[in-house]
Amino acid sequence: MINVLLLFGLFSAIKCKVTVIDDDPVKMKNFSISEYITSCGYPFELHQNIQTEDGYLLDVQRIPHGKTNENDTDKPVVLLMHGLLGSAENFVLLDCESSLAFYLAEQGYDVWMGNARGTAHSRKHLSMDPDVDTEYWEFSWHEIGIYDIPATIDYIRKTTNKEKIFYVGHSQGCTVFLVMTSEKPEYNNYIQSMVAMAPAAYITAPSGGLLSPAFIPQLIKILIDAVGMEELKPSKEHALCLELGKLENYCSGVMQMLNIDPDTLEPDVLGRVSNAFPAGAAVRQVIHYTQEMISGKFCQYDHEKNENLIKYGSEKPPSYNISKIVSPVAVFYSMNDTFTPMEGVKKLIGELPNLSQDYQIPTDGFSHLDFVVDRNVVELVYSKIVEEFKKYM
Ligand SMILES: *[C@@H]1O[C@H](CO)[C@@H](O)[C@H](O)[C@H]1NC(C)=O
Ligand SMILES: *[C@@H]1O[C@H](CO)[C@@H](O)[C@H](O)[C@H]1NC(C)=O
Ligand SMILES: *[C@@H]1O[C@H](CO)[C@@H](O)[C@H](O)[C@H]1NC(C)=O
Ligand SMILES: *[C@@H]1O[C@H](CO)[C@@H](O)[C@H](O)[C@H]1NC(C)=O
Ligand SMILES: *[C@@H]1O[C@H](CO)[C@@H](O)[C@H](O)[C@H]1NC(C)=O
Repeated sequence: MINVLLLFGLFSAIKCKVTVIDDDPVKMKNFSISEYITSCGYPFELHQNIQTEDGYLLDVQRIPHGKTNENDTDKPVVLLMHGLLGSAENFVLLDCESSLAFYLAEQGYDVWMGNARGTAHSRKHLSMDPDVDTEYWEFSWHEIGIYDIPATIDYIRKTTNKEKIFYVGHSQGCTVFLVMTSEKPEYNNYIQSMVAMAPAAYITAPSGGLLSPAFIPQLIKILIDAVGMEELKPSKEHALCLELGKLENYCSGVMQMLNIDPDTLEPDVLGRVSNAFPAGAAVRQVIHYTQEMISGKFCQYDHEKNENLIKYGSEKPPSYNISKIVSPVAVFYSMNDTFTPMEGVKKLIGELPNLSQDYQIPTDGFSHLDFVVDRNVVELVYSKIVEEFKKYM
């Protein structure tokens, strides 16, 4: 038995050695992240097959330095984590100066962009085939938080030799951080400081509109009818709302949810957005969020009473313990964000034990996706991230 385990360990170690290349073979329709980063004049590295504790394989894109600071030593390291249905591409949707990844590289950071399991870049596993094995898709953002982010951070720390790193999350990229630091509090020790842009934790449904409680069961039905129980497929197969077909309802739902108003985006930004969304996710991620809207809690996945009793030892899923999140967190949010409405963000702000800043974007109409596509985002948001991080250098 021991020999078999040893052999298996050896086999997986060999099979999943991380490889680093300077190209990214995964294209999101017409959008290649490696080509775009290179065309903007930045160095690019793809770190492939970072293995999680439960066998998922993740790719991470890196811009190791900016154009003018190549030889600076001891660069601070930052991990950027995308939102639901997004991927690393979310941080290069704007032009070569204003995209968050480029901006931080120019400011002297070593920039890493994570990709959650199930997205186009991380749609793989040691033994399960996402196209065949439905068990592959039995995860929510809970698993991304307890497995993917820790594996990504372990790898980055090992590769850069840094004790601590900075972290910027957008939406679900914040959810998974909060899950990690509350469920595996030792990871607080590896965070220099975290900026949460539009954090999804408590999501009170706004009255009326698409996400009103009455609409939730309908939304879930639309999702399941459109895509089946497991996967929201990546944009390789259907770019958001460019090929509607049976996804019509689902697509316009996503558009509304993200508050995308195509008329306000520059044509090349809109082009990258429509290529990059959706980057793929498990249906359970969406269901988990809708459960939170109904319960008003920030808690683990609700499998229904009987399975909850087996899994959690209680009829209701346990809440995440926010008092364990002791790394410094700055919360950036806007008042017209329909996906993470202000009431829920304020509740989170009130509970975070080490709140470093509470910053409301001073622009009326700044929406959920504007954190990565607004034309004034450097002035409104990204320059403030750099100021925030300076407090912890
Ligand atoms: C991709 O590029 C080709 C050629 O430039 C163009 O014909 C096609 O419409 C593009 N598709 C999308 C989804 O942008
Ligand atoms: C960094 O150092 C290398 C080797 O000394 C040099 O070739 C390169 O031009 C330098 N880069 C910058 C941006 O100064
Ligand atoms: C939450 O964490 C705090 C700090 O570790 C602890 O004192 C408290 O008992 C925990 N609460 C629950 C409900 O587990
Ligand atoms: C907040 O974070 C700072 C920086 O890591 C740390 O020194 C401080 O002890 C933390 N405060 C709390 C209340 O955890
Ligand atoms: C944004 O929210 C505020 C406060 O709820 C409201 O007065 C305002 O009309 C909203 N603006 C837009 C553009 O939706």
